[in-house]
Amino acid sequence: MATDTVFPPGFLWGSATSAYQIEGSPLADGAGPSIWERFVHTPGLTIGGDTGDVACDHYRRWREDVALMARLGMQAYRFSIAWARVLPEGRGRVNAKGLDFYSHLVDELLAHGITPMATLFHWDLPAALDDRGGWLNPDIAHWFADYGEVMFKALDGRVRHWATLNEPWVVTDGGYLHGALAPGHRSLYEAPIAAHHLLRAHGAAVQRYRAVGRHQIGLVVNLEPKYAASESPADQAATRRAHAYMNGQYLDPVFLGRYPEELREIFGNAWPQWPAADFDLIRQKLDFIGFNYYTRSVTRDDPGAWPVRAGRVIQKLGTYTETGWEVFPQGLTDTLAWIRERYDNPPVYITENGAAFYDPPVAADGRVRDPLRIDYLRRHLLALRDAIRAGSDIRGYMAWSLMDNFEWSLGFAKRFGLVHVNYGTLERTPKDSAHFYSRVVASNGAALHEEI
Ligand code: BGC
Repeated sequence: MATDTVFPPGFLWGSATSAYQIEGSPLADGAGPSIWERFVHTPGLTIGGDTGDVACDHYRRWREDVALMARLGMQAYRFSIAWARVLPEGRGRVNAKGLDFYSHLVDELLAHGITPMATLFHWDLPAALDDRGGWLNPDIAHWFADYGEVMFKALDGRVRHWATLNEPWVVTDGGYLHGALAPGHRSLYEAPIAAHHLLRAHGAAVQRYRAVGRHQIGLVVNLEPKYAASESPADQAATRRAHAYMNGQYLDPVFLGRYPEELREIFGNAWPQWPAADFDLIRQKLDFIGFNYYTRSVTRDDPGAWPVRAGRVIQKLGTYTETGWEVFPQGLTDTLAWIRERYDNPPVYITENGAAFYDPPVAADGRVRDPLRIDYLRRHLLALRDAIRAGSDIRGYMAWSLMDNFEWSLGFAKRFGLVHVNYGTLERTPKDSAHFYSRVVASNGAALHEEI
């Protein structure tokens, strides 16, 4: 019966986006360039040469987008703030027009009864700070806290859920270790330094928030459970390394005040020693973890997979999304069990979950039929319900993404949206999954059992 999928009272249902992926007009109204502006305008770095110059044109269509969210019955909206719109040089001078954009957006959300959840940093570092070394410069901790303070003072009366960083693991793995994402570096030596300063910046911003803010602040991480491909000692060890690298690298310092031991083994000579006092800064009390969940990895020892020496085994009977990620809802339940046990059951928001599939074009009847996405959402929400039953303290769920958008170096080819975006006309069309999700939200989960 439907009632066994009803979520706890007050559970917050919404969807998520990020600034560079949807806004467009990156340099409008006095904004400074970000590292993504530079990255996308360097030939060969994004598929098809796609850029976020226009993206979904949300910078100009934000009212329409908020109205759309309201029509779909969304209760919350997780968005990110483009640091370089507010501080064009990354520090110092505030650009009032950039700040106004977010202030108006928040007002509009509240006017429609939608709870705003703001992320300070979703990868679009001001280019002026990159010129000073970006995440490699230790000063970035106070640059970030100063930027945070500007936003907290401007919006904390209206925004009650803040996140410092989105997915610091991706910033270091993609931006500093393998180079597929901005700023496009490929260095074993830089990655752990950038990781540490991301963590220090996070801690400094939380500390600042406690001084000037009154609501809730957390950190958003992407976690991917690792399951050993076999019982062989080599595969087991590879799985431990992969797990420490991806799941422990950020949460262990934040909750336990230390890095996992395996990181030293992975980075070898490139692994630095940090002053103990840094961990006092990093280990600030958080109000919640934001957990982005997409897939799992079945892991085997692979000496060629630099530097973790762990490879992914493709599952013959698995279902894969268009980004090549296995659909594995049980991984969400398992990872939430791990969080519960390792970090003493902190409050968690699922801040992203979703999938890219080949969607058919908008049909003559105006529908976009995307049954695979509906199935993905339904199965992950049931897995989330299992975790809640098992005792996890889950406060809300943000589907990724409200609408199709710029998928970083993969350009516009991968569509994660509940809402289809026509990149020629910029018209928005809710897919079948958006309507399904609306019914789930309206029934607080009961509609997960409906027949499609
Ligand atoms: C990121 C999003 C991204 C999504 C799908 C997450 O890693 O936070 O920006 O679009 O995954 O790849």
